[in-house]
Order: sequence, then structure tokens, then C-alpha cells
Amino acid sequence: MSKDSQAFERRIVLADPAATQSLGARIAAGLHVGDAVALEGDLGAGKTTLARAILQALGVTEDVPSPTFTLVQHYETSKMPVRHYDLYRIENPAELEELGLEEALDEGVALIEWPERALAWLPPNRLHISMTIMGKGREARLRGPSRWSAAMAEASRGS
Ligand SMILES: Nc1ncnc2c1ncn2[C@@H]1O[C@H](COP(=O)(O)OP(=O)(O)OP(=O)(O)O)[C@@H](O)[C@H]1O
Ligand SMILES: [Mg+2]
Repeated sequence: MSKDSQAFERRIVLADPAATQSLGARIAAGLHVGDAVALEGDLGAGKTTLARAILQALGVTEDVPSPTFTLVQHYETSKMPVRHYDLYRIENPAELEELGLEEALDEGVALIEWPERALAWLPPNRLHISMTIMGKGREARLRGPSRWSAAMAEASRGS
């Protein structure tokens, strides 16, 4: 793992779902082909809400259901194809191969809920987001390569 892969670190309070929506838009603006976004957190922490916000910011207008049972959902977006994973139900991390993670990252972006089920199989340069419930809101802790500092600062200036 390179030193840079964890150089960006930020804690963001998300007081309400609208704050989650705007974080999703900021992340969407910084995404490039090959990026993995890990969304960690307990049941109901807001992982799917954030994934949905990212997809909507990329122009997805169709429904974004939780991939709890399908394990993966594919989306075409104006920027790149995106696959949205929920690994809660995978039994063996090797299933990620069948679920096309490698192709997902070759062609576009992967958003991954319950990444702790397959951590060793995920790219070390991922943007890793841990969400926790805080009262009526949420807190997001972000870690990732240093380029995310600029991406997040850039976007927050306009909001
Ligand atoms: N910043 C926020 N403040 C308050 N509520 C929020 C916030 N973000 C999301 N929520 C709400 O929290 C709930 C989270 O549900 P969500 O399905 O996103 O959780 P999840 O982490 O994906 O759960 P699961 O582990 O079951 O997949 C939703 O009802 C959503 O509206
Ligand atoms: Mg979910």
C-alpha cells in the first residue's frame, strides 16, 4: 500500500439527509474511472442513502434500490458506468470476482456497502467512508488518497 493511499482524512457531520445528499454530490464530482468507494457502517447508518446521492449527482434518474438481495446493481451515468454493491450477504470474498469487481473498476466506478466483508479484495487506493449514527443525524469519516483533499475543497467552496 502506498503512503498516499490514506493521506486524505476528514470527519463530516451530516445533520440531516440533505447533508448526505450534498456530500454525495461532492464525491460524485471527484470520481474517476477506476475509483472504488467503500461505504462502511451499521444497519441504517446511511450507506445506501449516500450511494443513491452519488448516483443521482451523476445523473441517474431511475430508482436506486438497495442491492441487498441482488448484491450488485449496474448504472450507466453521463460520466462512467457505476456498479453498486452490497456485500452483506456474500459468503466468500472470492465471490467478488463473479460479481465483476475487476471489470467494474476497469470500466468505471464501484460503490461498495459492507466492504469489511471483503477488505483484502478491495483496492488500497479506495475512498473509504465510515458512517455512524449520531443522534438524529450521521457522521461520516472519510479516508483516501490525497487527491480527495482538493476534490472535496473544490466542491465545498461552491456550496
Ligand atoms: N444525515 C442523515 N441524517 C439523518 N438521517 C439520515 C441521514 N442520512 C440518511 N439518513 C436516513 O437513515 C436511513 C438510512 O438508511 P440506509 O438504507 O441508507 O442505510 P444503510 O446504511 O444502507 O443500511 P443497510 O445496512 O441496511 O444497507 C434512511 O432512512 C435515511 O433517510
Ligand atoms: Mg444499504
